[in-house]
Amino acid sequence: MQFIDLKRQYEAYKEEIDRAIQDVIDNSDFILGSYVKGLEERLSQYVGQRYAIGVSSGTDGLMLALNALGLRQGDVVITPVFTFIATAEAVSALGGIPAFSDIDPETFNMTPDALMQAIETVREKKLPLKGVIAVSLYGQCPDMDEIQKICREEGLFLIEDACQSFGARYKGRFSCGITDIAVTSFYPAKPLGGFGDGGMVFLSDKEIAEKIRALRDHGQRSHYLHEMIGKNARLDTIQAAVVLAKFRHFEDELKRRENARKIYDEMFEDYGLASSSVRLPVIRQDRTSVMAQYTIRIKRGKRDMVKDYLLKRSMPTAIHYKLPLHLQPCFKGLNELFNYSEGQFTEAEKACHEVLSLPFHAFIGAEEQSMAVEAIKDAIWRE
Ligand SMILES: Cc1ncc(COP(=O)(O)O)c(C=O)c1O
Repeated sequence: MQFIDLKRQYEAYKEEIDRAIQDVIDNSDFILGSYVKGLEERLSQYVGQRYAIGVSSGTDGLMLALNALGLRQGDVVITPVFTFIATAEAVSALGGIPAFSDIDPETFNMTPDALMQAIETVREKKLPLKGVIAVSLYGQCPDMDEIQKICREEGLFLIEDACQSFGARYKGRFSCGITDIAVTSFYPAKPLGGFGDGGMVFLSDKEIAEKIRALRDHGQRSHYLHEMIGKNARLDTIQAAVVLAKFRHFEDELKRRENARKIYDEMFEDYGLASSSVRLPVIRQDRTSVMAQYTIRIKRGKRDMVKDYLLKRSMPTAIHYKLPLHLQPCFKGLNELFNYSEGQFTEAEKACHEVLSLPFHAFIGAEEQSMAVEAIKDAIWRE
């Protein structure tokens, strides 16, 4: 069993994907080719955002966004403490300082209250707080309206890290089209993934969009006239062709993912595990999740036992994430600056001991899901 079976997906759309790749090669249309423009137009329409800019990865997209928003050395940006490293890494890589907020134990996302607390911590230190990156973790947006309101009142920019949530709906709007600026990733395992690295920045402001277009291409707006120091962070045309081919099936895949989520939920409920030993993913009424992961919670101590038991039966699982960011070795320096320590972010720390992501993708079969749930039941009941 595969954790995410990308081969099955490729086999389903092989002809279309192969044709698109061949087309790029036949036309030698390699750098910022027509498929990049085509994908930008298609995805900006889909999410309802004015500008979309193809970039080399989600991480680069975050860095370009922060750079274009004017982040300077020593500026502070608040991120959730429970996320993939890239969210905060992008801030540090530009010389900024990430500060952290705790999460909602049900959705694993930043809460407005936790954000307010984080703002107070930074302001007490009299550090220049510039913005917030709110992550739509596991495929579901946080309380974005409330978070946006706080950011407006506090004069902070707000970036949606939508690297796991492209296609998710929030109060009738789309992830990547809710905030002034958002970034997604086309890493192969993402709900909309390519065959390598890639990403896209979505935004509403013309000037910042022009800046990001220049920054992703060595700071040039016209050939060999470099107005600023940029980098090479262009979306590869072959990746754009693959993503565009897969995008035709994306809505259908989202339905399949939703169906697979319900099947897991029902199986856990049928075994009576849902209320006692296992906490299922929680999706809020006013939004949808693209289920980048199907992540359950199993009490501290038991989770690792279940993971090992499944591995012995050749069932792969993953822990997203083992450590909250304030306990990552690379962010040790922040502990002194903000007095962070173990026990500081209780919900995130608890989640790190309890989360377990199960095999999940658009092509997973109910039999495979049943095998995974059976194995979890056996592991828990034999205790
Ligand atoms: C929440 C989050 N932010 C940022 C990234 C970085 O994206 P990429 O791998 O495309 O650089 C990822 C992807 O793994 C992610 O999950």
